Amino acid sequence: MRAAQITALQGPDAIEIVELPDPIPSKGQVLVAVESAGLNFPDLLMTRGLYQLRPPLPFSPGGEIAGTVVAAGEGSPFAAGDRVMALTGFGGFSTHVLVGSERCVPIPDSMPTDLAGAFAFTYATSYHALVDRGALAKGETVLVLGAAGGVGSAAIEIAIALGAKVIAAASSAEKLAFCAELGASAGIDYSTEDLKRRAKQLGGGSVDVIYDPVGGELAEPALRALGPGGRHLVIGFASGTIPRVPWNLALLKQCSIVGVAWGAWAMANPRRHVDNLRALFALHAKGALRPRITARHGLDGVAQALADMEARRIKGKVIIEPSRGGS
Ligand SMILES: NC(=O)c1ccc[n+]([C@@H]2O[C@H](COP(=O)([O-])OP(=O)(O)OC[C@H]3O[C@@H](n4cnc5c(N)ncnc54)[C@H](OP(=O)(O)O)[C@@H]3O)[C@@H](O)[C@H]2O)c1
Repeated sequence: MRAAQITALQGPDAIEIVELPDPIPSKGQVLVAVESAGLNFPDLLMTRGLYQLRPPLPFSPGGEIAGTVVAAGEGSPFAAGDRVMALTGFGGFSTHVLVGSERCVPIPDSMPTDLAGAFAFTYATSYHALVDRGALAKGETVLVLGAAGGVGSAAIEIAIALGAKVIAAASSAEKLAFCAELGASAGIDYSTEDLKRRAKQLGGGSVDVIYDPVGGELAEPALRALGPGGRHLVIGFASGTIPRVPWNLALLKQCSIVGVAWGAWAMANPRRHVDNLRALFALHAKGALRPRITARHGLDGVAQALADMEARRIKGKVIIEPSRGGS
């Protein structure tokens, strides 16, 4: 098998392509031939040792995969030929990966394998955030920051599918045009516009929910656009800065600052996580969710894909197709 491995915690430049012996599944495991592995921000953080999960070096990043089972260990409910998707944590940017069967979900017939590798991480995060943590109601207005990115673009589609109105916020006109294609009804370019003022204007005085995977200097102006009963969903800090927001704002705004840790929640609540995935599969099957894969790379392109993410050049989802030649 071949894998894109990180050999030192020095970011995308430290990726090397290596040949490794083919692994053999032990009890309860499956060996999956990876056809599609979605690129997510934690993959990038892991290349610099900045994520909570810190595998020993060398390791292959890649937290979600989809592919075909080639061998199943004793006791696995899966068999060779089954199409599965799985959250691997790391290891997905490889032609083959060993996964515990409990981490695998059969890919629905309605979903092609390439898309299945780019689905669970972002859509399940955004669904859990908006539904379980944000209690988003029909007719409410959601302000999505980093809206053209992976979790941001998934949040746009899910919020609209749930009957909400979406104001997308991003750093360029090109990214906002992409968000408009996804269904956002208005856009704010926060590289040139006043985020708080525009969000209040576009929200008819205030917004109900903020979906915030960026943090940094955007968090406070976004929070200030919330109305009474508003919820600021803390998804992540792609800006690299954890904001320090004045505590009294929660009192003055009568709003909630709500933490979202989807991975930990899904581990602690596996049945509810599967229920959420089923709801997402159903929304996809009826055409309400149409994930956008905007770039595809072979293993040789992993370093470039990670560098693009670090430089904010990505819209929607990028996938790694390990069996593909070149980048
Ligand atoms: N809490 C959870 O359960 C959970 C689950 C999954 C992901 N996350 C977090 O969500 C965040 C986004 O993940 P993602 O996979 O959607 O990433 P992504 O596709 O790269 O999107 C991140 C967006 O953040 C914006 N951004 C602002 N400053 C940035 C910077 N310095 N570097 C990179 N991007 C920057 C970019 O949009 P603009 O250029 O338009 O500003 C970019 O589109 C990450 O922090 C990730 O760890 C959290």
